[in-house]
Amino acid sequence: MIQMADTHLTEEEIQAAVRVLRSGALRQGPECDAFENEFAALTGAKHAVSCANGSASLHLAYTAVLEPGDEVLVPSFTFFATASMAIQSGMKPILCDVDPDTYLLDLADAEKRLTPKTRGIAPVHLFGNACDVDQIRAFARKHGLKIIWDAAQAQGTRWKGEDIGALGEAVCYSFYPTKNLFVGEGGMVTTPDSELAHRMRFLRTHGQTEKYTHTMLGWNYRMTDVEAAIGRAQMKRLPDMLAIRQRNAGILTAGLREMKGLRLQRVTESSTHSWHQFCLVVDRSAFGMTREKLMEHMKRAGVATAIHYPRAVHQQPVIEERYGRMQLPVSERLTETILALPVHHVLTEADAHKIVRAMRSAVFAN
Ligand SMILES: Cc1ncc(COP(=O)(O)O)c(C=O)c1O
Repeated sequence: MIQMADTHLTEEEIQAAVRVLRSGALRQGPECDAFENEFAALTGAKHAVSCANGSASLHLAYTAVLEPGDEVLVPSFTFFATASMAIQSGMKPILCDVDPDTYLLDLADAEKRLTPKTRGIAPVHLFGNACDVDQIRAFARKHGLKIIWDAAQAQGTRWKGEDIGALGEAVCYSFYPTKNLFVGEGGMVTTPDSELAHRMRFLRTHGQTEKYTHTMLGWNYRMTDVEAAIGRAQMKRLPDMLAIRQRNAGILTAGLREMKGLRLQRVTESSTHSWHQFCLVVDRSAFGMTREKLMEHMKRAGVATAIHYPRAVHQQPVIEERYGRMQLPVSERLTETILALPVHHVLTEADAHKIVRAMRSAVFAN
């Protein structure tokens, strides 16, 4: 069975973790410092602040950049944490619709939702496809907004040739096992702003500015040296892993783009997509099969598939309860029609061709 992800570490990564375990240094220490420096160098960012996971990276960035009571524009078609961590930081997420082809934040819809309290915007480089950075920056400048980039799914994504980690005041990453770079649980925020990096480092350790002196309220959001050692070792193979994802996405794109009833995610102009996920939309009537039937067919053909996401953020029970029901038709339509195919770094060329064949054979399986 071709799975959606492969989360095995290499022997070198395992040995890096074992070395730390043997040393007895189980907390945040020199490996985290080195991982931060190397991740900053990799992305071209001035600073990188490691933390416990991607949600923590958003919590640190929202808290360090914005104020409680502020409103933040957030795409509704994303993983829950982009919005929930704004709430946890005392802000109100203003959920916006997305573009039907790129699945990324729709600025025309966002503009309609601005109020005098709107102070931030949290674009998501969803599935590894870069947002139009120039457009978002211009929009933020025009409306006086701070930008918190959610790059949880976008290690290796580039915009006009530059790594997206170097393109923002606060760029938030996750290193969860299915991500392009994975260590178990882990996160990072990159920033060009030394003061902001400082603040996030304090927030990460209960706002402690000197031992047992707490000058702000924070959390324990530290990464440990075990995960940092894995991350450092894995960064060496990141270019190769990204190249395999690119190659696989190329095979899937070539094999599927002309198929009636399928619409592939449109890669944003100037974006180098890092293919965390390969997603497409299934038009049931043109394709002649529902998405769910197609998933069953793929499973029988030995290929796992997945739905990212079956509910938009505004459809989550806790969000409806808090802010009431709202309608965002593009996001809702995507939840009903989107499908993710395997594209990960362990798939062979033959696997990618097998996925294409399985998709093509669905047409005859009707
Ligand atoms: C877009 C997005 N934001 C935030 C997160 C949260 O990251 P983590 O699971 O590491 O807390 C994820 C993780 O799936 C994500 O995909």
